[in-house]
Order: sequence, then C-alpha cells, then structure tokens
Amino acid sequence: MRLGVCYYPEHWPESLWEDDARRMKALGIEQVRIAEFAWSRIEPAPGEYDWAWLDRAIDVLGNAGLKVVMCTPTATPPKWLIDLHPDIVPVGADGKPRGFGSRRHYDFSSPSWFEASRTICTAVAARYGNHPAVAFWQTDNEYGCHNTVVSYSPAAVARFREWLKARYQTIDALNRAWGNVFWSMEYRSFDEIDAPTGTVTEANPSHRFDYRRFASDEVARYNRMQVDIIRAHSPGRPVAHNFMQLFNEFDHYKVAADLDVATWDSYPLGALDQQWFEPELKAKFLRTGHPDFASFNHDVYRGMSKLPFWVMEQQPGPVNWAQWNPAPLPGMVRLWSWEAFAHGAGCVSYFRWRQAPFAQEQMHAGLNTPDNRLDVGGHEATRVAEEIRAVAAANVDADAAVRTKVALVYDYEAKWLFEIHPQGADFYYPRFAFEYYSALRALGFDVDVIPVTASLDGYALVVVPPLPVVPDDFAARVAASGAHVVFGPRSGSKTLDLQIPAQLPPGPLASLLPMRVWRVESLRPNIAEPVHVDATIEGHGRHWRDLIDVGSEPTLAVRARFADGHPAYVRRGSAHYFATLFDDRLTEQLFARIAAEAGLTPRVHGDSLRVSRRGALTYVFNYGQRVHTIDGVDAADFVIGSRDVEPQGVAAYRTR
Ligand code: GAL
Repeated sequence: MRLGVCYYPEHWPESLWEDDARRMKALGIEQVRIAEFAWSRIEPAPGEYDWAWLDRAIDVLGNAGLKVVMCTPTATPPKWLIDLHPDIVPVGADGKPRGFGSRRHYDFSSPSWFEASRTICTAVAARYGNHPAVAFWQTDNEYGCHNTVVSYSPAAVARFREWLKARYQTIDALNRAWGNVFWSMEYRSFDEIDAPTGTVTEANPSHRFDYRRFASDEVARYNRMQVDIIRAHSPGRPVAHNFMQLFNEFDHYKVAADLDVATWDSYPLGALDQQWFEPELKAKFLRTGHPDFASFNHDVYRGMSKLPFWVMEQQPGPVNWAQWNPAPLPGMVRLWSWEAFAHGAGCVSYFRWRQAPFAQEQMHAGLNTPDNRLDVGGHEATRVAEEIRAVAAANVDADAAVRTKVALVYDYEAKWLFEIHPQGADFYYPRFAFEYYSALRALGFDVDVIPVTASLDGYALVVVPPLPVVPDDFAARVAASGAHVVFGPRSGSKTLDLQIPAQLPPGPLASLLPMRVWRVESLRPNIAEPVHVDATIEGHGRHWRDLIDVGSEPTLAVRARFADGHPAYVRRGSAHYFATLFDDRLTEQLFARIAAEAGLTPRVHGDSLRVSRRGALTYVFNYGQRVHTIDGVDAADFVIGSRDVEPQGVAAYRTR
C-alpha cells in the first residue's frame, strides 16, 4: 500500500522542482506520475527532441527517493503533428473533424497516427526504459475520455470493412446476421458498407453494434502497440493504463488483458454530479459522493488487473468539470484513500500535486494551492501516509488479496447494446449494474466484479445485471459452480448478432430456466408497477417488464407477481430471474433472502455505513452525519480509528 501523485514539472519553474520532490517525499508519497501531456515539450518540432528538461526532472525525483511512473504522451498530439497529418483528428457522427486545442484529438484508426504514436512511444521508451528511477509505465491517458472512442473517418470505415470481413467471411453471412433483407439493406460486397451514420432514420442496430465492437477493438489494438514497445525497451517494469470511471465505450477487459496493472481515475463528487443519480441522492451525498460509486469501480478494476489495481488519480478537492463542483467534506480524501486500499488497491495516487493557475483546469484542486501551501487534501494525504505506516507495523496481512463468495457480472457490450436498442429511453446498463452492486454492498458483502467469461467456481452467489447476449457455455458454468445465480430482466434476450433467439428469451439460459419471455414492455420513469412477493415483502417494478410464460414446467416456481398476475420473479432451484428492475429496497430484500439460502450472512447497513474486508482487517467507512459505534465485535484491535467512527471517518480492526 503506497501513495503517489500526478506531477507536471513542465507547468512550473525549474527552481520549484527540488522543493516539490523533497516535500512529496516528506509527505509520504512514493511514486510520481509524469509526462502524459508533455509531447509539445518533448518534441517541440518534427523530429527535434528536447530531453534535457525531462532528464533533469526525472533525476530530481529519483534523487529524492521517488519512483517515477513514466507515461507515453499520446493523449495530446501537438499542433505541428496535426498540421502535418490532418487525418489524425477523429471525425464526428456529423461528418465534421474534431479540432485541435484540448486533448484526445486523434483517431485510433488513422495510419499516420499509428505511425506517429509508434515513433514517439519508441523514443520515450528507449530514452527512459532502463532509467533507475522509472519503475512503472502508463500508456496514453484515459482512453475514451471526452467521447473519443468512435470515429467516422474514412480510415475508420476502411478498417471496419476489414474487421467485418474477418468476422463474417462472406457478405451473405453478414447480410443474414444483420437481417439486411429488411428494408432492402442487402450489400453485394464488404466495400459497399459505410459507417452507420447519416441515415434517414435509425441505422440497422446490428450494423451499429458491430461498429461499436470494431471501435472498441481498435482501442485494444492501439494500446497493445504501445505496450509492446514499452516491454521491448523497459523489461520488468509493470505497464498500466488509467481507465476512467464509466468511460465504457470500449471493452476495458480487452485492454486490461495486455496490461500488468489496471488503474482508474476516481472522482466521486464529479461522478455524482454527472451520472444518473436522482436529485435527492445528489443532494444527500453532495460532499461525500455516493457510498458505492468508488467501491464499484475499485471492484471492477480489481477484477481485471494482474497486479493489485491502483487509483491513478484520486480527487483531492473540488474538480472543475462537473456542472456543479462542491468541495469534499473534511475527511473524505482520507476516507476515499482507505476505501481504495480496503478494496485491494496497491497505490492511491492523487491528482495533482499543485493546482494549476492557468488553462482549462485552473479551478481544479490539487494537494497544494496554486501559491504552494498544503491544501485540505494534502493534509489528509499526510495522515493517510502515517496510517499506512501504522498498518504496516501492525503486521496484519493488510495487502492480501480480497476474498469473497459474491460476484457481480459486468459487461461492456451490454451497455452498447442497450444504448443502440433501448426500447425504453432510460434503460441505462451501468445504472442497473450499479444498483445491484449497491444492494449487495448495503448488505455488507464484499463483491468481485467479473467478466461474463470468468470462472464462477468458489462463488456462492452470482448476480447478473441485464445481460442480453449470454455466452453459450454460461448456463453450464453456472450449473457446475453450484452458486445461486440471479439474472436481471432482458437476460438472454439477444443473439450475438442482435436478433431475437429462435425459442425466444431467455435463449441459452433455457436449460436453467425453462420458460418463455413472450412479450416485453418498457415503462416511463414515473411508472412503478406494484409487485407482491408474500405477506412480508412487496414493492415495485420499474423501467421494464418481461412477460413470462412458465408453461407447465413443474420445477419453475413463481416467487412474485405483478398486480395483473404476470410473474415478476421466477426461480428454478438455485437460478433466479427478475422480470423487472425492482425498487432498491425490494432488490435488497430479495438479495438478502437468496444470499441467506446460499449460506451467506447478510447484514443491513443502510446507505451511510460501508464495511469491507481485506487480509485480516475489517474496515468501516462512515458516509453519514452521525457517529457510528461498531458493535457486535467484542475483541477487536484497532489499527486505524476506534470503535466510534466519526462522520466521514474510517476504522480498521482485526478481531482476536
Ligand atoms: C482526468 C484526467 C486528468 C485531469 C482530471 C481532472 O479525467 O485524466 O488529466 O483532466 O481528469 O479531474
């Protein structure tokens, strides 16, 4: 467990560097990420490299005893490069090229961009690959940030055609898969196929779905090129990328497969303001963030990282980019840091060392104010560093792997599919996955977030948010695991090509749940359909209804019904299917029952308290406004905090 920081020596007079490095070290920071936006200073003109300043900056950090996370600078191609190769910029769905003057203005499919990237990455990796201070690498910065995965350029279309050829082999196979006989959309050759944009009304959803898959694969291909270069020049140093919370336009699992460390950028207050949360929740958690938002992402990235995941950028104070940007309550920067460690992080790195007085992010806090005084976040980071030392001294196996019997499946393609084919305007996949996750956390469970391809062995409970395309072997893997499995609505509702399965949904899940979803309906946001479970619980279904025909299958039990008699929840043995999105309370109650049957022990925590376990330590996080006294644990040794956890406080204890 260690702390890091993001630092931009090129933003500051060189006379500050040594003092910065000394103060970082004194604060307890061990690693410093640099250079991800420094291309215009590394290569001020085509082929003219200026390494001297960067050599000195790295030496200053290294001499202070800090490890450097060296970045490839490809998130910000300089002006001269764009002018030399105008085809580098991505093209929007409106056919317009995007402009220079911010960042990420590049097209993953542009051959000149690929070459320019290869050249700069090779130059940086060759220069610093064996530098003793360089301990880690980061590729690029936040793939997908600012909506930059999908481009509609001629280069992208050309590569899309190749991608389609590889996938379908023949044009007839493609026409069948997409159902192109509908509206006379049939093609005679792959070369006739364009990007699915500019059509009079919606383009064929299968065409759109494949375009999204293609665009995602382009990100993985590009990242792999960078990783290969780094590995060739810097053997033995772990390679990371910093994913961004819910920038889900590409498959993070596929990119992470080529990395050693999956890291992510955690901005809990910015996320609360930007994401789907209802206004009451935005008000309630205004200065703390939603108690499950950072955790959800920690568990997502833990699930794809070969080495312990990191938070590469941790919000240190107000950000600049949400619609409204409140300040975290005192204590939250410390709480967020410990929450990351409790979920398995190896490093928490703050963004950024000092607030910049200029340009786009001048309103974004750092650990230090622009006049170089330690800000609130800086003081809290200092405290975290002290506590890390205390935890290390206590020798409690604190950096062990997180172990749990509860898993939640997360799937990037599901998000794109529901976006392309929502049928109900607010059918937003990340929200529904998050709400299931949140219910599990409110019941006190640690949760592994896993891809649909992962092994299910060892889990007692697997929760599957709406999963339209279910791999053929999934049902068999579920059955073999012996776990209780809960499926959200619309699971198994589409084939790989985005068609309705021949025997109707739940398609390949029929071996687990021999039933037929014969009709579906979507519900406006203000509609809540009453659901009756039994004498003790009832609630509402929202957003969606699967109308299920259970036929005469004797093993299929209807466990809850809508007011009009249609099944709302059916089960067969340890397989459970929800025909709607239940309200939070009902979801939690049903998960609690199913978990208990699966041999687990749910505990109700409400929404202000969260508990996590790692190694021998149990962590308690107080998101609420009142002191929480930990009870039910008699013999506990506290290594952080005490039995009384103050608002925004953290406690960690080992039971004797
Ligand atoms: C991140 C990005 C950083 C910085 C930060 C501000 O998404 O990687 O470069 O812009 O946001 O919060």
